[in-house]
Amino acid sequence: MQTEHTVLLVTLDPSVRAAVSAALGADPDYRLIVLDSPKGAAQRLNEVQAHLIVCDADLIQDSADNVLIDARISHPHVGRILVGAPGDADRCADLARRAAVYLYTLKPVQQDLIRLVAKRALELSELSRRHRVLSRELKISMDDDIFSEANEFSVKGGWSQFEKLVYVSAKMADLSVEAKQAAGTELPVLIQGETGTGKELLARAIHYNSNRMNSPMHVQNCGGVSDETLHSELFGHVRGAFTGAIADRLGLFRAADGGTVFLDEISEISPSFQVSLLRFLQEGEVKPLGSDVLQHADVRIIAASNRPLRELVEKGAFRRDLYYRLKGFELHIPALRDRPEDIPALTQFFIEKYAGVVGRRVVGITQDALAKLEAYDYPGNVRELETEIRRMVAIAEQGGYIAARHLSSVFAHVRARSDDAIELPADCGNLKEMVEALEKRVVSSSLQRNHWNQSRAAEELGLSRVGLANKIKRYGLQDA
Ligand SMILES: Nc1ncnc2c1ncn2[C@@H]1O[C@H](COP(=O)(O)OP(=O)(O)OP(=O)(O)O)[C@@H](O)[C@H]1O
Ligand SMILES: [Mg+2]
Repeated sequence: MQTEHTVLLVTLDPSVRAAVSAALGADPDYRLIVLDSPKGAAQRLNEVQAHLIVCDADLIQDSADNVLIDARISHPHVGRILVGAPGDADRCADLARRAAVYLYTLKPVQQDLIRLVAKRALELSELSRRHRVLSRELKISMDDDIFSEANEFSVKGGWSQFEKLVYVSAKMADLSVEAKQAAGTELPVLIQGETGTGKELLARAIHYNSNRMNSPMHVQNCGGVSDETLHSELFGHVRGAFTGAIADRLGLFRAADGGTVFLDEISEISPSFQVSLLRFLQEGEVKPLGSDVLQHADVRIIAASNRPLRELVEKGAFRRDLYYRLKGFELHIPALRDRPEDIPALTQFFIEKYAGVVGRRVVGITQDALAKLEAYDYPGNVRELETEIRRMVAIAEQGGYIAARHLSSVFAHVRARSDDAIELPADCGNLKEMVEALEKRVVSSSLQRNHWNQSRAAEELGLSRVGLANKIKRYGLQDA
């Protein structure tokens, strides 16, 4: 946690300067920056991460000078204090009201009061920052995974966990080590993997293991979003920048200042937005739509894609320089079918999770049901397994086992792996007949595994689609 707080003091009055310096200047918790004009202060606000601004009302002649009003909109989490001359009390009260300052005080400035008020104003801005982080986090978890709270489970099974990621496989263990290393750096991270493999979960795990854990992680899905929307979501906009822009918008990059922005489906951004993002990654500066003021944002980018970016780069569909920028660390989450040893652990984990949620006591899962779950190829990866278990838990009998009869229809054709072991026909016949019998078994089992998706089965078998169709016809195979 950062302990030093940056205070901007805007005054030309030596007595105010002396009092505030005496109150805060010697305290190592504060870094005092003294400025002689509201304009200078407005500029400084964009350059440093300030926590408090103390402004002398004498320097505010008109609304253009009122840095406190501007700060209220552009830097809502910076505490604001106004100092005024006693003869000017009415105007000060009015200024204070318009800028919603934490406090206004009249000269001569009391050191004790400044010290106390500075402390309270900082506490308030910290509380409002935490409130922002939590509301945002809550909203995300409510949208994405309403049961995430149920993860307060006791780990009974022999599985490992990296934050909310559950695994036993060596592949996932290696990946977690790499992800922890990535978390310890400030480099951008690119997470690739098929849909439902846990890319967002991994991004959160990285954020919560990084130095940025006390600041927010904001999520932006880049798929199916127009450039203009994406620009205003990420970089912000000023009022009137486009039809419907009725108020200033901060943008996620600045809202997540000090934290992380997770850009999902990064492969989908347009060539022109690729340029904007590259510029941001290079300069760390954002220019809201409709504004020509550059502002600084200190965020770490974690991007995810379920389309292989390298291939898109080779095809010229994604900028190579942006790809290299994004992949400070490149993490690949393997598909669930490539780490079947995770299936029993995940199954157990999800049973506990959803049994807790729906208040149902489930004793466990039968061997044959688990064997079927293990043999399936999960095009939807962990999400698909999770949905299946959630459904099964809901329909299982109270106090009973989850059994094969609770499985949904996609599992009907799945044959447990042990059934797949191909035996030679007993009445052997000649070599040609044996080979054909074997071929029929191999082709049929591949078709079942792929739910009769002939393109996928053909690919798996190394056949052309026509070649596969011929074999289906020859052996009279049918979808059961
Ligand atoms: N290893 C895991 N342990 C526990 N839950 C997991 C794991 N992997 C994925 N999940 C769960 O699977 C679901 C999908 O995960 P997530 O949204 O992170 O996937 P994704 O790769 O971002 O998917 P998409 O590409 O479709 O956006 C979530 O409900 C998540 O909690
Ligand atoms: Mg996702």
